[in-house]
Amino acid sequence: MCGIVGYTGSRPCLELLLAGLERLEYRGYDSAGLALLDDEGTLETVHAVGNLARLRAAVAERAGSAALAAAGSEPATSPLASGEREEAALEAAEVSARRARTGIGHTRWATHGRVSEENAHPHSDPEGRVHIVLNGIVENWAELRARLEADGNVFTSDTDAEVVAHLIARHYHDDPVEAVRRAYRELRGHYAFVALFAGRPGLLVGARKECPLVVGLGRGETFLASAIPAFLRHTRRIQLVEDDELVVVTPDGARFERVAGALVEREVRVVDWDDDVAERAGFETFMLKEIHEQPDAVRETVADRLADGVVLPELGLGEDEATRLRRVIFVGCGTSYHAGLVGRYAVERWARLPVEMDIASEFRYRDPVLDERDLVVAITQSGETADTLAAMRLARNSGARVVAVTNVMGSQATRDADGVIYTRAGLEIGVAATKTFVAQVAVMYLLALWLAQARGTLASSEIDRLREELRALPELVRETIDSVREPVRAIAEHWQSAGFFLYLGRHVGLPVCLEGALKLKEISYVPTDAYAAGEMKHGPIALLDERTPVVCVATDSPVLEKVLSNIAEVRARGAHVVAVATEGRKEVAEHAEEVIYVPRSDWMLQPIPAIVPLQLLAYEIARLKGLNVDQPRNLAKTVTVE
Ligand code: AGP
Repeated sequence: MCGIVGYTGSRPCLELLLAGLERLEYRGYDSAGLALLDDEGTLETVHAVGNLARLRAAVAERAGSAALAAAGSEPATSPLASGEREEAALEAAEVSARRARTGIGHTRWATHGRVSEENAHPHSDPEGRVHIVLNGIVENWAELRARLEADGNVFTSDTDAEVVAHLIARHYHDDPVEAVRRAYRELRGHYAFVALFAGRPGLLVGARKECPLVVGLGRGETFLASAIPAFLRHTRRIQLVEDDELVVVTPDGARFERVAGALVEREVRVVDWDDDVAERAGFETFMLKEIHEQPDAVRETVADRLADGVVLPELGLGEDEATRLRRVIFVGCGTSYHAGLVGRYAVERWARLPVEMDIASEFRYRDPVLDERDLVVAITQSGETADTLAAMRLARNSGARVVAVTNVMGSQATRDADGVIYTRAGLEIGVAATKTFVAQVAVMYLLALWLAQARGTLASSEIDRLREELRALPELVRETIDSVREPVRAIAEHWQSAGFFLYLGRHVGLPVCLEGALKLKEISYVPTDAYAAGEMKHGPIALLDERTPVVCVATDSPVLEKVLSNIAEVRARGAHVVAVATEGRKEVAEHAEEVIYVPRSDWMLQPIPAIVPLQLLAYEIARLKGLNVDQPRNLAKTVTVE
């Protein structure tokens, strides 16, 4: 979830680009950069790790060093005293950077390659003819890079974006648009990028495949960005770039072309958002925005990891070492712990490895018996949760191999682990985890498949089938969000005053229950409990009466029949059942009063679509109660203390 801005027009663009990037800060980032092209064709690039204040400082510093260089070249006979000479040269250099009226900028949320200046965008070809900023993932970047290196290209970063700059330059003879078109045809993945061409002020060329790219139409100036807030202060007239389209931007406006070549007429829309709403991309809350970002979170997380079998290069574990493991232990807190519970089923079933689960705050004090044959997987969105970090240190000191599953590059967990698997959900602002949960569960499946592949416990045909199913998940999540919103809203209205909810599930449905119950608890403050449905007769059934809504996760699994029996038992006590089921399972509707259907997939993968209605149920009830879902009472996004 990187931020892209571009400008060409009548005004100097340095400040416009920086301010545009600042309006995209809510997307989260760890480095940033600019490429500025003035009308004489002078091109400046500046990069900085850290926040945008660091980039601003880098611009001033760059201007300063250019000034000093200019001052140094001043003839000694210059009438200006040395201090005045430097002042004049600084002024001259700043004028250059500030004079540019065509430029691109980027804030990077690292997915490939560590956080560093070398990896910050914009990236260019070795000769600096083409500069690009990119959002998304180029899945086939490794094979393209190998091919370009074999042809003598030298790379300066370990990002997928730099490959695109080299590729465009390779096709660039005298037609920038054709160069982008040809390069685009060789790329696979989902991305949006903007290219700037040395010596061609007044021109930007963008391209889009599944990641957002939007044009802002000003008077004598045109903006490009990954999100509307970047330029909303300057214009409300926008045009959306669609998939497989190029957009050719000049100060007079934008021309849209299909990659195949046809020109496209694109309507101009006028947005009426205020700044605040724009930051939430038009959604009423960050949590709702993040629920809707779940398809992208899953897509980005699985993207290039399924390119050729299952690849987890940052895992830090060889396939041979995987065959010597005796056990996997998942540790985490809250939602992250629930993701690990899904991982347990997948690893045991696909990789035939024993799995233990523990809440990090328990694990760290129970004096566990560990050694080098154990793989401890610490799941932590923030990478900073105190109990999880302590559990990792304990595991490492005991000789176990430790892997962190985290959403934040450079977080403490990444420094304390032997290997890392990043979720790529982008910054999550809502305190209640949503998109990071589905991304974590997607990583659980990737890890389980990788272990199965390494240990030879699944036929390659089965691995291939599951890879295709994982690839299809983002679209399933999109379908689920679209299809369940209304039925869930009706159920929320029906049960908004209930004083207690019981969640029941079995097998892979149980972690979904636990997570759904946690969502309702943490944003609506309604008491809930979540239990293995088979446990109901061992106590919780005493809670039931005609006032009790019971949410049952009855999606496909080897024990669906058992769940249906539990639903019947609940109904026999007068309680009311709201079931989440796999589409087509009409028998669930024969047992439950209300059923929310989610799209079919391999039953092991059902937790990802199945959590969506439970997230939205919690959300709708909290909104009906007028509560602040983004910042619930008593909660912090990251618990950095015990
Ligand atoms: C979930 O909605 C909560 N925000 C909380 O349970 C969270 O999952 C837990 O604090 C763990 O955080 P982490 O993933 O950053 O370690």
